[in-house]
Amino acid sequence: MPGFIDTHIHAPQWPNAGLGLDLPLQDWLNTYTFPLESKYKDLDFSKKVYEDLVTNLINNGTTTSVYFGSIYQDSNLLLADICNEKHQRGFIGHVSMDDKDNNPEYYRDKSAQDSLNKYESFINKLLKSNEKYSIKQTPVITPRFSPSCSLESLKGLGELAKKYNLPIQSHCSESDWENSYSINKYGKRDAQLLYENNLLTSKSIMAHGTLLNNSDFNIFHKTGTTVSHCPISNAYFGNAIFPVNDALRKNVNLGLGSDVSGGFSPSLYDNMKDAILSSQHLQNGVDNSVVSEIRGVTNSKITSKQAFYLATVGGAKVVNLKTGKLKEGYLADLQIVENQPNPFQKNDKQDILDNLIYHTRANDIKKVYVQGYLAKRG
Ligand code: GUN
Ligand code: FE
Repeated sequence: MPGFIDTHIHAPQWPNAGLGLDLPLQDWLNTYTFPLESKYKDLDFSKKVYEDLVTNLINNGTTTSVYFGSIYQDSNLLLADICNEKHQRGFIGHVSMDDKDNNPEYYRDKSAQDSLNKYESFINKLLKSNEKYSIKQTPVITPRFSPSCSLESLKGLGELAKKYNLPIQSHCSESDWENSYSINKYGKRDAQLLYENNLLTSKSIMAHGTLLNNSDFNIFHKTGTTVSHCPISNAYFGNAIFPVNDALRKNVNLGLGSDVSGGFSPSLYDNMKDAILSSQHLQNGVDNSVVSEIRGVTNSKITSKQAFYLATVGGAKVVNLKTGKLKEGYLADLQIVENQPNPFQKNDKQDILDNLIYHTRANDIKKVYVQGYLAKRG
């Protein structure tokens, strides 16, 4: 099968996978996330965690990951080195967060200018280290989200993305709190704010988007901005269910993201299953005191084939690469899965796909290749 593309994952949050998910987003960030991310100044700790994470992703058939790193340049470069050593393709985001009100003093950039200077040097070092390797690691412009960045840094990051023609990632309209933040502060929606700062382009990947509205989808369509759908994480922090079918009907491209550790699982198999389950909830509605006719949102449920599309072809479009398909001229990003079809009855093609999606475990994935190179499993 084609390897999977995880279009949104926070590498430094791996040790917290599954922790603190009963808290709302803002409290979770302050209690669990920022304290952990601040430890990545320590390169020994970074190495231990990142080696384990990349191995786990490969074990689960993920051949390309779009990473948020931390605010520490050397640790982010180390993540790129580890991807190179293990033969995984990474998009490596050096996180920008300079706002003094929404980031703790112990974990933020000193100033917008400091953040931009560090960024430019990160880009150049990563592009240089790529020269030695066949599988390229791509730097990604990464404003954490609108509450954590000053206007000056958003503007500068948009300029950097243009100067180096780089992909961009952020969180956009993820939760009620986050979605209302830029409306209250700037009198405009997240999408508009990012658009005005040249951060929505055909190389932009916006995570979550659970509360995107029609005008946001219009901007996404017009600019070619894509969404990383993170169904597991959205169940905890999203305050709503992302409408996959509605976005696809509006010609907005979508991939799948694990959002570790807002999501507890690094497996895109788990995320495919949850994308299907959450779409069923959206279609059926969830409040049993409401009559069925108006309980849910019609035409919302997605099929297993669509979930597979999100993890493969959709993800490939998000990262603008010829991957996600077994086809001549495409990158040889593969997972060899030994999962016998259900032995009790005859299986047609659809049954085989359903069985693969619902029942493949890491143990069933025997080999993983990235660009034809054997990836190192644990
Ligand atoms: N918004 C800003 N930072 C984060 C993060 O680390 N995880 C999630 N899910 N949302 C965020
Ligand atoms: Fe995230």
